[in-house]
Amino acid sequence: MRLAGARVLVTGASSGIGAATALELSARGARLVLSGRDQEALAGVAARTGGQVVPADLSDPSADPSADLAVRAGPVDVLVACAGEGWSGPLDRMPGGTAERMIEVNLTAHVRLTRLLLPGMLERGRGHLVYVASIAGAVGVREEAVYAATKAGLLAFAESLRYELPAVDGNGVDGNGNGVGVTSVVPGVVDTAFFARRGRPYTRRRPAPVPPERVARAIAAAVERDRAEVYVPAWLRLPARLHGAAPGAFRALARRFGRP
Ligand SMILES: NC(=O)c1ccc[n+]([C@@H]2O[C@H](COP(=O)([O-])OP(=O)(O)OC[C@H]3O[C@@H](n4cnc5c(N)ncnc54)[C@H](OP(=O)(O)O)[C@@H]3O)[C@@H](O)[C@H]2O)c1
Repeated sequence: MRLAGARVLVTGASSGIGAATALELSARGARLVLSGRDQEALAGVAARTGGQVVPADLSDPSADPSADLAVRAGPVDVLVACAGEGWSGPLDRMPGGTAERMIEVNLTAHVRLTRLLLPGMLERGRGHLVYVASIAGAVGVREEAVYAATKAGLLAFAESLRYELPAVDGNGVDGNGNGVGVTSVVPGVVDTAFFARRGRPYTRRRPAPVPPERVARAIAAAVERDRAEVYVPAWLRLPARLHGAAPGAFRALARRFGRP
């Protein structure tokens, strides 16, 4: 997918990884639709990217904010599904409604949004879907069970869609190099407001947080090169692979070296 001239909807564009991604994509010539709740922050990103602001609170299932957002965004070539919320602590102490809210924002809203945007992409024979998941969804993390489950759901959703959709490389349904690409993004610890907002700051020294701009560059490259999955930092692929290939060994190492 050539980003120059492509119309890209970024959810979570008001802060952190989403805002950095908007700036990176804009620098590569993309036309942006910026979504989030914080209109002042969105206006700040719009001022730097020339993007169109379409505010939406994705936490309210009764109002169907995804449908409203899809209509107001119009035809988009690329969806960067980045909006997300976290909560950390023992599950039995989680306040009522927190799980439902995280599932709604992190997973359900983006599934709905995809369902609404995909027909247009298929009709135009061009599109790319990017899901910002987390290493928590790939290996599980103690005291982040629901958050990890939402991200595991996104990873399975993306992987399954990639099998289902016409491939961009020309080996797909139409054989012309048209198609809809799908990328899972698997960040580790990123230096954003995420931890403060979830109510528990990140206090470990290792792994050291990476800047959101690094995730943004990985997302832009993944869209341009149709990558199925990107880990940021790249070494995170190793624990994810170990967890998949030898879960017993992974658990033993995790017990020995601390978290997850
Ligand atoms: N930071 C990390 O270490 C890390 C690691 C792995 C994965 N991730 C994932 O990366 C994504 C971006 O997080 P971040 O680190 O950039 O954190 P962030 O700075 O807190 O950004 C979160 C974004 O999600 C949006 N959002 C949250 N709740 C929303 C809602 N109900 N409706 C609409 N938008 C909502 C926020 O918009 P408003 O502020 O406008 O409400 C904000 O733009 C999340 O999906 C997160 O799970 C983060």
